[in-house]
Amino acid sequence: MILRNFAVIEGCDGSGTTTQLTLLKTRFEKSETGPPLFTTCEPTRGPVGMLIRRILRGEVSVMKETLARLFAADRTDHLYAPGGIEERCRRGELVVSDRYSPSSLVYQGIECGPSLPRRLNDSFPDPELLIYLDIDSGAVTERLEGRKNLEIYEEPDFQARVRDGYRKLLPAYEKAGVRVLRLDGKAPREKLAGEIWRALGEMPICKESPG
Ligand code: TYD
Repeated sequence: MILRNFAVIEGCDGSGTTTQLTLLKTRFEKSETGPPLFTTCEPTRGPVGMLIRRILRGEVSVMKETLARLFAADRTDHLYAPGGIEERCRRGELVVSDRYSPSSLVYQGIECGPSLPRRLNDSFPDPELLIYLDIDSGAVTERLEGRKNLEIYEEPDFQARVRDGYRKLLPAYEKAGVRVLRLDGKAPREKLAGEIWRALGEMPICKESPG
C-alpha cells in the first residue's frame, strides 16, 4: 500500500540525507505556497529511537536480529502514534522522512539476510516518493573521515554493500508504484536541493494545495 503525501530520502551514510532535509525545511518555511510540511527522521527521537542511537554509537550492544526488530518497533511508533506520519498524511500534510523502511531492507538485509527485515517491514505502507542520494564508496570514505565518532555502520566496506543493496532494491519499489528519484549525491548541495524541491512539487498534494 502506498501512503499518499509521504516522501522519504535514502542513501548511504554521508550521502547528505540530513543536510537535504534541513535545506528543504528552510526553503519551505520561506515559501508562502504549498501544504504544511512535516520533516522527520529515523531512528526517531522517541524512546525506541533513542535506544537505537545508543546501539549505533556502540554504547550498548544487542543481537543484529534484535536491532532489526527495534528499527521496526521505532517505525511503528513513527507511523501510528498520535501525531505520527500516517495521521499527518491523512490530514493533508506533506511528510518527508530522513530514512524509512528501505534503510532496514538494505542495512539489516546485509546484517541478517533479506527475510527477517522483509517480514518485519512488510505491513508498513510504502512512500509515494523515494529520493535516493547516490554516492560511491570513495566519496563515503572521504565524508566519513571528517567525522569524529563513527557509528557501527560507518565503515567503507559495509557502505559499499549498502550502495549495492540500494541499487538492487530500488526497482522493486518502482514495480510497486513508488516514484523513485535517483540523484547524484556528489552534486552541489544547492543543486540537489532544487531537484528535490521540484520532485516534491510534482506530488499531487503540492499541485492541489492552494497557492
Ligand atoms: P543516520 O541517518 O546516519 O542518522 P544520523 O545522521 O543521526 O547519524 O542513520 C543512522 C544509521 O542507522 C545509519 O547508519 C543507517 C542506519 N539505519 C539502519 O540500519 N536501519 C534502519 O532502518 C534505519 C532507519 C537506519
